[in-house]
Amino acid sequence: MCTPTPGLRRVMVLLAAALVSASVAAGEGWREEGVQYGQVGADVVLSCASAPGRSGVEWRRDGAATLPEGCVLRDGDLLLPRAELAAGGAYSCHDGTGQLLRSISLRLGYLPGIPSVTCRASDYENFSCSWTPSVETFLPTRYITTYR
Ligand SMILES: *[C@@H]1O[C@H](CO)[C@@H](O)[C@H](O)[C@H]1NC(C)=O
Repeated sequence: MCTPTPGLRRVMVLLAAALVSASVAAGEGWREEGVQYGQVGADVVLSCASAPGRSGVEWRRDGAATLPEGCVLRDGDLLLPRAELAAGGAYSCHDGTGQLLRSISLRLGYLPGIPSVTCRASDYENFSCSWTPSVETFLPTRYITTYR
């Protein structure tokens, strides 16, 4: 058998399966106050909590009245059909007098994919794994790893 090169002698790629799953922020403890997460390409609804059926509700984005193209106002709610990534931002709804009713920070992104995982064992007890995401989600993303 050949002698491994010194630098690689103790490095061994761990072939045991490392299973990694990923999830987008949805679980408990992940919600930030006033932040709403949405998926790019899906219909996103921003609700103006205290104004059911109220007329005269006005939405603003980043303080201005310019809203994403194609948006729809329905019963005081703001619909963003097939939201684009660039539609994220600081939204606020106001009553007829301009008074702030609710502000929402909308963060849009993509579902995570299975990351590619590399594991190395320096000896028979210790190993380390690292991963590279396959998708830039633009959202807080948690990767859960198990091994056997
Ligand atoms: C594994 O790493 C720990 C901490 O660095 C070290 O104390 C231990 O000796 C290592 N195990 C082996 C088998 O070398």
